[in-house]
Amino acid sequence: MSYDFQSLHTRFNKGSFKWNELAEYGIKPEENIIPFSVADMEFVTAPEIIQAIKHELDSSIMGYANATQEYYQSVCNWIKTRHGWEAKPEWILPSHGIVDAFFAAVRAYSKPGDGVILNTPVYYPMYSAINLQGRRLVENPLINKGNRYEIDFEDLEQKAKDPGTTLLILCSPHNPCGRVWTREELTRVGEICLKNNVLVISDEIHFDLLMPGHKHTIFASISDEFADNSIVCTAPSKTFNIAGLQTSNIFIPNENLREKFLRELQLSNPNPKCNVLGYVAGQAAYENCSGWLDEALKIIDTNRKIISDFIAREFDKKIKVYDLEGTYLLWMDFNGLGLGFKELEKKNRREAKLFFDEGYLFGKAGEGYERWNIACPTKYIQAALERLKGTYL
Ligand SMILES: Cc1ncc(COP(=O)(O)O)c(C=O)c1O
Repeated sequence: MSYDFQSLHTRFNKGSFKWNELAEYGIKPEENIIPFSVADMEFVTAPEIIQAIKHELDSSIMGYANATQEYYQSVCNWIKTRHGWEAKPEWILPSHGIVDAFFAAVRAYSKPGDGVILNTPVYYPMYSAINLQGRRLVENPLINKGNRYEIDFEDLEQKAKDPGTTLLILCSPHNPCGRVWTREELTRVGEICLKNNVLVISDEIHFDLLMPGHKHTIFASISDEFADNSIVCTAPSKTFNIAGLQTSNIFIPNENLREKFLRELQLSNPNPKCNVLGYVAGQAAYENCSGWLDEALKIIDTNRKIISDFIAREFDKKIKVYDLEGTYLLWMDFNGLGLGFKELEKKNRREAKLFFDEGYLFGKAGEGYERWNIACPTKYIQAALERLKGTYL
């Protein structure tokens, strides 16, 4: 390994969403407990990114700015090299975050009362984008096969047929189930949506986070028709652990859709400008950090394997670990322990001192599940497994 993924920089009292939870439960820094919830990594930022930011600080005035052409070109080069999609820089619209982007997309492309499809259980802000903005939630529940989830295409077709249903927010790769949808699956989704005039908002923020043997397909890359009927939300934030820099790239090949989105962005942010350091970091990441990413993925895969082996060995079938194809968010079913989901949360947090993201946050089908963020130094995974064993066996 050329990079250090095994040292921890604690984030007590630094405003971190994830670490703040520990303080709420009275955990002290000396207890050596880390949280496994919110989806950012406990890996130190790549030195290439830090260097680029330092260089910018030494040489720049932090005035109003927009992203440069070089930045947009580096985004497109990354997408071409890593995912094989020939995207054009002019298709990209900026957004501080992907959540902002899919909220804006719901406003831009649907009207109050319209149906919006979600493949549930799913990342919880997607429900909010629908419910808080007066749209109608249309669930297309995923089929739970015990170790992986699949899309129920018949149900999707039924739901998409309703003329009042106008959008699908696709989570690809899927959070929290860890699926990397195959090209064939995405093609079926896209065909159903095309046939029924349902526009696809494809949230691909996890697109670079792939376990060995899995390949991500960018939805819009499948065909010109799909590119014309979708927007693709991407960012360097998850990939390189720079979410705090608030820089995302929304690809909208269809000019008409792009204009509508831009109008919506201007309403919520009438004087658009960028976070200069976010763009500097993003460009450095895309140009110089593929080696860092490959090593980070190896650690995540090692952590995944350690958990799967331990749980299979120690917990028989009382806890089930779902296959992780992409993301660093391991989906686990604790229902075999026979606790209610609220009791599970209490016991994990108070007794085992394990701070996962609770499955019920992702929808009713997630009750009794936990989502374990495994992008952290391996010894914290091992210690957490011992606490799990000490609490339940
Ligand atoms: C599927 C998905 N979309 C969006 C986000 C957050 O995006 P942002 O921080 O850019 O708003 C996350 C973070 O966990 C996510 O998992």
